[in-house]
Amino acid sequence: MKASAPEVAMLRAVADGLGQLGGAVLVLDAGLRVVLATPQAETLLGFRVATGELAVRVLCGGAVKRPIAEALAAGSAVTASIPHPGSSEPGRRISVRSLPLPDRAWLLLLDDASDVDENGPILFHGMWTQDTRMKQVFRVMERVAADDMTVLIRGETGSGKELVAHAIHQLSQRKSGPFRAINCAALPSNLLESELFGHVRGAFTGAVRDVQGHVQLANKGTLFLDEVAELPLELQAKLLRVIETRTVIPVGGRDPIPVDVRVISATHRALRQEVEAGRFRADLMYRLRVIPIFLPPLRERPGDIRLLAEKLVSEMNGKSRRTVQQIAPSAIELMERYAFLGNVRELRNVISYAFAIGDGPILLPSDLPPELLENGAGLEDEEAGVTKHNPPRVAALELSPEAARIKRALDRAAGNRERAAKILGFSRITLWRRMRELGIEP
Ligand SMILES: Nc1ncnc2c1ncn2[C@@H]1O[C@H](COP(=O)(O)OP(=O)(O)OP(=O)(O)O)[C@@H](O)[C@H]1O
Ligand SMILES: [Mg+2]
Repeated sequence: MKASAPEVAMLRAVADGLGQLGGAVLVLDAGLRVVLATPQAETLLGFRVATGELAVRVLCGGAVKRPIAEALAAGSAVTASIPHPGSSEPGRRISVRSLPLPDRAWLLLLDDASDVDENGPILFHGMWTQDTRMKQVFRVMERVAADDMTVLIRGETGSGKELVAHAIHQLSQRKSGPFRAINCAALPSNLLESELFGHVRGAFTGAVRDVQGHVQLANKGTLFLDEVAELPLELQAKLLRVIETRTVIPVGGRDPIPVDVRVISATHRALRQEVEAGRFRADLMYRLRVIPIFLPPLRERPGDIRLLAEKLVSEMNGKSRRTVQQIAPSAIELMERYAFLGNVRELRNVISYAFAIGDGPILLPSDLPPELLENGAGLEDEEAGVTKHNPPRVAALELSPEAARIKRALDRAAGNRERAAKILGFSRITLWRRMRELGIEP
């Protein structure tokens, strides 16, 4: 049942009017197909809505329960809250209210019904956070992704620079194009040059054919220059040329080849200081940091250590012989006191270590790598320091991981069981029981 031309014209007028009032509206014909979507509706949904598309397909995708579809088909008005069809973020929802129009046409009023807690955790393109500065970063990413603006990401190692670069690519119109990442610190200058810009046959010994570099391979996509501050000065000049002329000349070549790339770069250094020290070209810096994005280190993101530790635990539960149901509060405390110079990557390693070393459903302080324990047990260490020369009697190799851990704690505590229990996160009774079960002599 298709709407007639005058009817469509009338529906358009209605939707236009509502759109001008700022409404996110879909107009459906009697066949429940979209006649019109206001720009606000498309903004809310986050994708383009084709006219003629079935409304349920637009809103519900493959969902099994379709209260909206059923109500509309039955000709009754409906108000429902459904998962946001354009987002996999938990908590993102939209509300749909249907208003009947003459001739079995419908008006669907959409609204944001997300119960996303501003202070709660969110997942954004593989990145978990509950930190306000990180959320601000995500907002900037969303805003700059669509335009081809050049982004410079600064952050410590392991803080998520590559994830951010990749997310910007995914959020951009270039997402179906290539994403090419190259680490400028990983190669000597001459290799880096030909990796980046390519070379022609005969350019140097061993150059038996023309080879495209990353700049060309990223054509119609995104070029990610990791550790860009390490780019040697002569290559900086060449990169600047590429950005300014939008062409590339391969090593040994003559003719500039047009390229269409968006450049995202990353560094753990302050580029300005590199410029002042004469190691980085100021003109290139200004080209690269049109949009600077700063990723705060993990230790400065309150709540993120606990959040990420929990997410990593549930991720590893599926892949490991051990299942951890809970992280002991004392273990969280030790992690939160630790500097994590390697940021999220180091936290991931810490959790992997705990899965390998410990057992049982509770992740205990004694499952953590020694550097975290030393951090927390600093005071006890000072007290026990004098007896540290007292080596363990039993070869560590013969012990089960738990027995070895208990032995280590006893050694550190100079045999003081109360202190050893504290290091392990056990009660004194549990320590005594486990020692007896494992045959560990006091
Ligand atoms: N917010 C986050 N949520 C979940 N995982 C994260 C988050 N941030 C980083 N990671 C993970 O941490 C690891 C390091 O991230 P990534 O490689 O993006 O960091 P980087 O800043 O590029 O590090 P490097 O400077 O060493 O290249 C990856 O395994 C990544 O998936
Ligand atoms: Mg990286």
